Amino acid sequence: MLNMKYFITGATGTLGKEVVKALLNKGHKVKAGSRNPQKDKTIENQHVESVYFDYEEEHTFHNASEVDGIFLMEPPALNPKNTDLAHSFLDYLIRNKPKRFIYLSSHGMENLEEVPFHLRMEEKIKRSILNWHIIRPSFYAQSFGVYERDNIEQRNIIFLPAGRGKTPFVSTLDVGEAVAILLTMNKFPSHEISILTGEEAFDHFEVADMLSEILGRTITNVDPEESVYRKVLQENNIPAMIADYIIPLYGLIKNAKVEAVTPDLKKLINRNPEPLKKVLQRDFLKL
Ligand SMILES: NC(=O)c1ccc[n+]([C@@H]2O[C@H](COP(=O)([O-])OP(=O)(O)OC[C@H]3O[C@@H](n4cnc5c(N)ncnc54)[C@H](OP(=O)(O)O)[C@@H]3O)[C@@H](O)[C@H]2O)c1
Repeated sequence: MLNMKYFITGATGTLGKEVVKALLNKGHKVKAGSRNPQKDKTIENQHVESVYFDYEEEHTFHNASEVDGIFLMEPPALNPKNTDLAHSFLDYLIRNKPKRFIYLSSHGMENLEEVPFHLRMEEKIKRSILNWHIIRPSFYAQSFGVYERDNIEQRNIIFLPAGRGKTPFVSTLDVGEAVAILLTMNKFPSHEISILTGEEAFDHFEVADMLSEILGRTITNVDPEESVYRKVLQENNIPAMIADYIIPLYGLIKNAKVEAVTPDLKKLINRNPEPLKKVLQRDFLKL
């Protein structure tokens, strides 16, 4: 299916921008949804139409029309506004029947009863959308360079309550490519869930060792007790809801709920997924 057009939400985010790049590489056009379409330089390209899009402003939803498929992601639940943020847009899509629809969920969400926003979206999608496909990626390898960068670069620590559990970190470059492949397949794999993981599972002590080797100095994985994690966030004036989200999320790793490696990503992209070390080298050495 050549020269199609797709609407990508979160097009300025960690995964969304990789989805945009992968679609462009395949020769397709993109409508990139963002609250800052003028400012975003990462997606400047003649085949990208940057459109204003905000889950909180229903009048922006029409920007998702006249496309051949839609990729929907929700921003992380790091502020109270972001909980169940995408429901009214999903209602809009249910009324407008997208030709192809991919929803970004996450690996292990079925065990995340404390923060069930993906679960609620998945259930509604399965009930109400015709051509849906759900992806559940494992923890992104890129998250260390996004959310832990200050801890790693300035304090020489990883500070996450992940225990000794292992997880197969996945590269957003690979997931972006997988989304582009799914959206543009001749036969869309409707009513299916892909669990997208890297090829090898690591715990956060092993990640700290990898970072130490890459950076040439010791990075320590602190592995804080939950109470210590809460206290440190509180002392740094970080809202309690961040700990309420992060503790159960990393509890999935701690309790070995997301350690399994699956074949889905390799099958889709038809090559080995990027190793975690390669992503860390690129992100921390700017290779
Ligand atoms: N991080 C991981 O390891 C991981 C793993 C698996 C699944 N996930 C899932 O991935 C999702 C995103 O997580 P992330 O941490 O990688 O974040 P991210 O993609 O960097 O999220 C930020 C994006 O959300 C967009 N956004 C924020 N508020 C918006 C609004 N009101 N309306 C429209 N767009 C809005 C932002 O666009 P603008 O600011 O440009 O509008 C930006 O592109 C979450 O649902 C998470 O569960 C994450």
